[in-house]
This record gives sequence, structure tokens and C-alpha cells, in this order.
Amino acid sequence: MNFTGCSGNYKDRICLKLQDLEKSPFIQFHKWFIEAESLNVIKPNAAFLSSVNGNCQPHSRTVMIKAYDERGFVFFSECATDKVYQINKNNKVALLFSWLEIERQVKITATAVKLSIKEAFLHFSKRGKQMGCWIEEDGFISTRALLEKQLGSLLKTLYNKGIEQSDIFCGYRIVPETASFWQVCKNKLYQQFTYTKLKNGWKIAED
Ligand SMILES: Cc1cc2nc3c(=O)[nH]c(=O)nc-3n(C[C@H](O)[C@H](O)[C@H](O)COP(=O)(O)O)c2cc1C
Repeated sequence: MNFTGCSGNYKDRICLKLQDLEKSPFIQFHKWFIEAESLNVIKPNAAFLSSVNGNCQPHSRTVMIKAYDERGFVFFSECATDKVYQINKNNKVALLFSWLEIERQVKITATAVKLSIKEAFLHFSKRGKQMGCWIEEDGFISTRALLEKQLGSLLKTLYNKGIEQSDIFCGYRIVPETASFWQVCKNKLYQQFTYTKLKNGWKIAED
């Protein structure tokens, strides 16, 4: 198998300088996310979420990030899953957006915080096109979409009843402590900038 033809056309990308970066990693992420979307990265909101089990053995899996803002990145899961058991015991996680088509990645270390039913329902019900939606995909309702619809109405029922938490369906916010922006660029093999959370704001350094 020959992989030499697989690299993209991004080797000519101009390298970033520290002063080009946004002060907030969330705004920087938003810029890169919009670029990833406009450059037709497939499912740019898909990310690898890693958590550890009781033996500190890391486990990784794909999740779809449904929303992000200055507080963090939101995903949903059924509660009876390894990721949820692991996060409930140890909420230190890592999240990786791997945008291979444009030779960029965003690597995040974080704490996972469980959403209340109210927050989960509000996110779920206003989930925008921007973050992708299985229900609209391909113009038909897939099994996955049907499941999502059922989960959506479950959340609505719980929310309307004023119930705080569900043990069936969970939403989490990934709250970053560090965020590293890595890319291939011209004249350099690659470059990486890391944001580290401080008490007030973020420190940014080129690695
Ligand atoms: C494209 C794709 C998207 C996925 N999105 C989610 C998601 O948003 N939430 C989720 O819980 N699992 C999602 N999954 C399934 C997970 O990757 C995983 O297999 C499942 O949640 C069980 O993981 P666990 O046993 O480690 O908890 C997705 C899988 C794929 C391939």
C-alpha cells in the first residue's frame, strides 16, 4: 500500500505567529472549525474522547460534539456505557479533533462536567445545523436518527416533569484546561500552539 498520494494541499499554508492567535482558545477553535467546514472536512464535529478506567487504562472512542461555547464542548451519550462509568469515577478526559483532510488537529485536556436535564434538553432541542444532525442527514430517518428522536422526547418529558438527572441519557460538557492547535505549514513540518488555563484567562505558547 502506497500512502504518498494521501497528503493534502496544505503544505503551502502560511505559518501562524503567536500574535495571529485569538486570546480565547474557543474563538480560535471556532475559526478553525469554520475553516474545516468550508474546506469540506467530513464531520468536523466528530472528536475522539479518551477517558481512563480504574486501572488508569485509557479508552478512546468517537463522539459527536453537539455544541461549543466559552464554557466548553458538549456531547451526549447513553448513561449505561463505559465512557460514562469512567467519567463518573474520574472526570479527567482528553478530546481530539483530527481534521486529516486539512492536516490540522486540536488536542484538548479537560474535565468532564455532567449537564443537568434542563441544560441537556435545551442543547438537544436547539442543536443547530452547524454542529451536524443525524436526523437531517441524507434526507431519510436512519435508525440512529430514530434513536436520537426518542432520546429527544425522553429529555423533553424529564425536563417537563422537572427531573434534574436521567440515568438513561447523559450530556457532558468538556471543560478544557489545555488546548493545543497543531497544523502543517509552509517551510516547517508542523507547528503547535498550546493554550493553558490560568486563573484569569489563558497563556499561549508555541511548542
Ligand atoms: C461517527 C460516530 C459518532 C458517534 N457519536 C457518538 C456520540 O455522540 N455519543 C456516543 O455516546 N457515542 C457515539 N458513538 C459511539 C461511540 O464511539 C462508542 O462506540 C459508544 O458510545 C460506546 O463507547 P464506550 O463503551 O467507550 O462508552 C459514535 C460513533 C461513531 C463511529
